[in-house]
Amino acid sequence: MAQHRVKSVEASLRDTEQPEHRLSRNLSALDLTVFGVGVIIGTGIFVLTGVVAKTQAGPAVAISFVVAGVVCGFAALCYAEFASTVPVAGSAYTFSYATFGEFMAWIIGWDLVLELALGAATVSVGWSGYFNQLLGDLGIPLPASIAGETATVNIPAMFIALLMTGVLVLGIKLSSRVTTVIVAIKIAIVLLVIVLGLFYINAANYQPFVPPAQPGTTGGSTLTAPLIQLIAGFTPSTFGVGGIFAGAAIVFFAFIGFDIVATAAEETKNPKRDLPRGIIASLAICTLLYVAVSLVVVGMQNYTQLSTDAPLAEAFRSVGLPFVSALISVGALAGLTSVVMILMLGQSRVLFAMSRDHLLSPGLGAVHPRYRTPYRITILTGVIVAVLGGLVPLGTLAELVNIGTLFAFVLVSIGVIVLRRTRPDLHRSFRVPWVPVLPILSAVACLWLMLNLPAETWLRFAIWMAIGLVLYFVYSRQHSRLAPGAAGGAGEELRRTAPMGGGAPLAGGEPLGRGAMPPAGGAMPPAGGGGPPAGGGGRGDEPR
Ligand code: ALA
Repeated sequence: MAQHRVKSVEASLRDTEQPEHRLSRNLSALDLTVFGVGVIIGTGIFVLTGVVAKTQAGPAVAISFVVAGVVCGFAALCYAEFASTVPVAGSAYTFSYATFGEFMAWIIGWDLVLELALGAATVSVGWSGYFNQLLGDLGIPLPASIAGETATVNIPAMFIALLMTGVLVLGIKLSSRVTTVIVAIKIAIVLLVIVLGLFYINAANYQPFVPPAQPGTTGGSTLTAPLIQLIAGFTPSTFGVGGIFAGAAIVFFAFIGFDIVATAAEETKNPKRDLPRGIIASLAICTLLYVAVSLVVVGMQNYTQLSTDAPLAEAFRSVGLPFVSALISVGALAGLTSVVMILMLGQSRVLFAMSRDHLLSPGLGAVHPRYRTPYRITILTGVIVAVLGGLVPLGTLAELVNIGTLFAFVLVSIGVIVLRRTRPDLHRSFRVPWVPVLPILSAVACLWLMLNLPAETWLRFAIWMAIGLVLYFVYSRQHSRLAPGAAGGAGEELRRTAPMGGGAPLAGGEPLGRGAMPPAGGAMPPAGGGGPPAGGGGRGDEPR
């Protein structure tokens, strides 16, 4: 039987208690909620609302947001249970190391590149749209070929990705106050859109609320149709009820980030109580805001007229308020900048954790002697994000991000059931109700959204995961710290277990998960803003 390598929950927890690695625990549920809202609100609401309303769902994009929000709600409960049981940084990568073992941890880590690096690229394209809208408001727009959704080479998107790379390499952290201000600006802009926009709603724009299904797909090829339509033998169509679900699979992007809240576990005062609260509260707030914003925007401008670059700003310009349009663009730029940064930070830390486990080359995880940041991985991440953001259209990126993230959610949902079976003894201060029904529902709902993504997205996803599998078997499996005979470092205690056979202690000299997805590094708002070990990679330890 193939060896199954599992890192125990106790080992993960024990690692976090080592004094030299301990992060300060000072975040409350409120801090986490602010952080969550700060990460979640981004390109999804600022850009995809317009894209989806115009091309897939019409005014019913608001229903798409509700559908995606409900699916995320199920997954959030599963993340909350995991986070309250294994309050260790590292996101789904750490969870799966404890639950499924190394192979699945690799799969998830590889898959998370889609969520984090591609997510950052997606948000950088959104940033470019608002940047150009602002320049347009100032009377100096860049040509469409080099900025915005339809650009051939998206210069502003590349610029923001590389700028944030520099910031992360230097380990510059925004103070907690600046970060809180950015989150406040973002929420203020969203509220401004809702409240001011209400006065400019034209009820006629809600007719028809669900535009009738139209045959054909946007790209003319069947590959661009949602997979579910092809499987079920429907003629591919846009709008109608199918369009609401296809739209939900896209606007799902707007909710990505609540899972990142779980990564603040080690810095939370009372993680078992506050993490579930923080995750669920931030998700609930964002869902309400999204539904309200989308209803207002499709009420202000007919869905066929919406901008796919900067729809919120453009809606105000269309009703004769260019000043408000400029204000929204400035706020959106500030808000999107922080999302790009957090996603890139998260990506570099997951890769850092993987290289520390020797699933990727340990040399990649080298820490800069002066800035104490994992600079090689950060630069690699930044260059990839810049190239993708510069060359790939926003919709294509977002679809791939979504399929990758939904896949991670499916695995985490199943992981809850698995961990209940394999480790019933663990204390869970937050328990998902109706296990296994609810986690199964969560997995099925995520799978359903995945099926509503285009067939070509599935193809790209399959190719990406296939590359990951090859890498694992050619490189990572042999080099892993858990490989037979691997010298993982002095005093490392390794044990291998039968599949799902409960946790085997694997107390490395270092926590596997720690530092994987820290919230700080310029992103973490209250209290956490200054925590160097978490954020700027201010760890003094080099992976061995
Ligand atoms: N949810 C984040 C956004 O919409 C990633 O930009």
